[in-house]
Amino acid sequence: MDEKSKGQAQAAQEGFAARAKAPASHAATPKAVSEPHPPAATAGAKAPGGRDAQPEAQAQRPRRKRKWPIVVGVVAVVIVVAGVGFWTWHEQPSFCNAICHEPMDNYVEGYFNDQTLMANMHKKANVTCLECHEAKLSEQVAEGMSWVTRAYAVDESGDLATVGVTADQAFCAKSGCHEWEDVVASTQDWGGQAGVNPHLSHQGEAIDCSNCHGVHETSYMYCNTCHDYAVPSGWEEPR
Ligand code: HEC
Ligand code: HEC
Ligand code: HEC
Repeated sequence: MDEKSKGQAQAAQEGFAARAKAPASHAATPKAVSEPHPPAATAGAKAPGGRDAQPEAQAQRPRRKRKWPIVVGVVAVVIVVAGVGFWTWHEQPSFCNAICHEPMDNYVEGYFNDQTLMANMHKKANVTCLECHEAKLSEQVAEGMSWVTRAYAVDESGDLATVGVTADQAFCAKSGCHEWEDVVASTQDWGGQAGVNPHLSHQGEAIDCSNCHGVHETSYMYCNTCHDYAVPSGWEEPR
């Protein structure tokens, strides 16, 4: 657990690298795709600006000048359409491993097919990758860089060796996701032992949901590092 949180800051950079690498590495695609909205504006502003910088040279050829708004308009439309299309694709779980097979295949396959994983449970509830993993441009660029430079490692299962992401109460127990009171009630008198509740214990808020619940990995019964409580089927005892 401690190791997990230690690697956190650093792995946050590396971890999602793969998912985002598409925008960064897509050299052939207009740069704009990684930033669909602003690019249209930038492209529009830049092109005419460049020309206007030499008005004398252009003076003899007014015909050309008039075409510019059309050209700029067409370019802007193409960029916007490409951007919107890219963004829609980007929202799909299949985007994550379309290019970054390693390390993303395992996450995407688990999400779609591994019934033992919480990722799959969320798939069944129509929760997409990006609903949990908010796509921040800065992170995506960092991820793209580490994917391109292979600055990441995978473990024997094919998952990233250093996991930078964890989920806490604010993240999971929010409206539209999990109702905290219901969660607490669901594990009251855990294992038939009065007063025992993994969601309400002397460990309090110090432990994150991720201390027990793995999304892409097996969950495990953290309390049992010290106690001997019931372990849900499919969960691991403390490692
Ligand atoms: C229910 C929320 C949720 C969903 C849906 C989800 N993840 Fe995750 N993901 C997490 C959490 C929490 C972790 C931290 C490790 C864990 O719990 O397994 C994580 C870890 C990861 C990591 C390792 C990140 C790192 O920085 O080390 C990758 C890569 C990843 N997820 C990719 C995906 C992909 C791809 C999908 C969709 C196919 C997806 N995730 C769907 C919550 C989610
Ligand atoms: C100390 C370990 C532990 C921690 C930490 C933990 N849980 Fe749980 N959680 C459990 C156990 C054990 C179960 C029962 C699983 C089962 O019966 O298969 C459970 C079940 C659940 C369920 C299913 C409840 C139901 O209605 O069936 C949800 C939702 C849940 N936890 C959410 C959370 C959230 C959100 C957090 C973080 C705020 C969290 N858990 C933190 C151990 C934990
Ligand atoms: C780092 C070790 C440790 C962890 C982890 C831990 N506990 Fe405890 N727990 C203790 C100790 C020590 C006591 C005091 C035992 C005593 O006084 O006999 C205690 C007492 C309790 C008690 C009071 C009843 C009793 O057995 O004395 C409950 C209930 C309990 N823990 C539940 C939990 C739950 C649920 C978790 C997981 C969320 C958890 N504990 C995690 C160490 C731990």
